[in-house]
Amino acid sequence: MTAKLELSSNQKTLKDRIIVALDTSSLDMVKKLVGELEGYVSLYKVGFELFTAHGWDAVDLVRKKGADIFLDLKYHDIPNTVSKAAEVICEKDVQMFNLHTLGGLEMMKKTREAVDRRSAIRKRKPIILGVTILTSHSEKDLARDFGMNKTLDQSVLDLAGLAKKAGLDGVVSSPQEVEMLRKEFGKDFIIVTPGIRPPGSPKDDQKRTFTPQEAFECGASYIVIGRPITSVSNPRQAMEKILESL
Ligand code: C5P
Repeated sequence: MTAKLELSSNQKTLKDRIIVALDTSSLDMVKKLVGELEGYVSLYKVGFELFTAHGWDAVDLVRKKGADIFLDLKYHDIPNTVSKAAEVICEKDVQMFNLHTLGGLEMMKKTREAVDRRSAIRKRKPIILGVTILTSHSEKDLARDFGMNKTLDQSVLDLAGLAKKAGLDGVVSSPQEVEMLRKEFGKDFIIVTPGIRPPGSPKDDQKRTFTPQEAFECGASYIVIGRPITSVSNPRQAMEKILESL
């Protein structure tokens, strides 16, 4: 085991802005990772794979270890259904969750209202993020398959604008879009970005990646990192290296 890293105050702040993606279906793996990274990581992303396999047990396990949760389930349904699901989320005490902006203004507004109402009697209010255009879509796909004839950037800006209008706290975006979104929506808009690779890490299936430092410099509020931390032999050392690079 490596000695505990002495973090500068700037690194301490940045540490709380790094979200580690728990992309696994194994609860044992989660236990092992969260144990190894105790003190180094304060926020984990639980997405479809883990949630489909273990539901709230996975969330509870991480919360019991003292870390927090970004619930990445990208809700996309009618206003009543999503807002009711959001009320359940409020009972579960996660730090942030997301929904699809393409679910529409009404759905986002209703969810905002439900979270505000439910959180008034809870100890805290989860951050609500909107997903704009999935990075797996190209401009060509959007035009051909959905009749969306705007540029990709314009679609992202318009959907992020809709999220803001509905009262959402921010968006999830690719690192390429962070600077544009920060300029457009100002300093209080929360921007969470995956697609991050520390210097020297393999890109895996990510195409255009930013380093943690680049993403923060562009204005990211939080960055999401998965495999460069979770798929290496020494996750704690990987995290130390990332913190040292900032
Ligand atoms: O392992 P890696 O760092 O590539 O993991 C990134 C995480 O962010 C994964 O959970 C992936 O699903 C998520 N993500 C992404 N790109 C997006 C949206 C989400 O990589 N556009």
